[in-house]
Amino acid sequence: MANSTWEKKISSMINESKDCVADNTCQIEDMTIYLHPNVYSPKYFPESKWFGKNLRSVVEGTKTFLEVGLGSGIISLYMARLGLEVTGVDINPDAVETTKKNFEINHQKGHFEDQKSLILYSGIIRGNEKTFDPGYKLVERYIAEGGNHLTENGSLLLGSCCYANIDMLKEIGAKHHYDAQIKVTGKETIGDNVEETYYIIEYVKK
Ligand SMILES: C[S@@+](CC[C@H](N)C(=O)[O-])C[C@H]1O[C@@H](n2cnc3c(N)ncnc32)[C@H](O)[C@@H]1O
Repeated sequence: MANSTWEKKISSMINESKDCVADNTCQIEDMTIYLHPNVYSPKYFPESKWFGKNLRSVVEGTKTFLEVGLGSGIISLYMARLGLEVTGVDINPDAVETTKKNFEINHQKGHFEDQKSLILYSGIIRGNEKTFDPGYKLVERYIAEGGNHLTENGSLLLGSCCYANIDMLKEIGAKHHYDAQIKVTGKETIGDNVEETYYIIEYVKK
């Protein structure tokens, strides 16, 4: 069950993040990041930076990376800076445009498309599955269909957040013949003494 302090904090952050105007920027480490009121903002939600940094150990030895649900593109940007060949899609054209601008201003290359029909959900799940993805239906589609887009030895990664039901995420993997393993977990504060826990889960074909 979601904790109401967390829910209140998240909803105030969502409202705050929508106040920005297109072309506002923020600084994330040494990167300048364009923001957009319709695009998930790494200025307000620390998970994007956390995933970008913590994916490093998970993708070691990998050459290509496909992000489904780019948002501002910051996670893909971290991957491109590691030397991976990056492709990404988002259902939201503003996210694709913002990602392209963020790659340009940070001198990185990638291929991005406004895509509604590929794997169907963000590799990064936000928040409480009961609120945003009841029964993990979208996650299940991601796992069921994502495998069709993997290279040999490729794996599906899922970023998850507070209140993730890890047993259920593993069960969904097993149903589609994947072993699911938590590769990295950690916490970040989102202000007002509210902490979030993050997980990077890898699904490997059995
Ligand atoms: C919570 S944001 C995460 C963005 C980014 N991965 C990050 O962590 O900063 C989820 C993103 O997934 C995108 N999205 C949602 N449903 C999608 C779908 N069916 N196909 C592609 N992208 C989708 C949304 O537009 C949004 O940009």
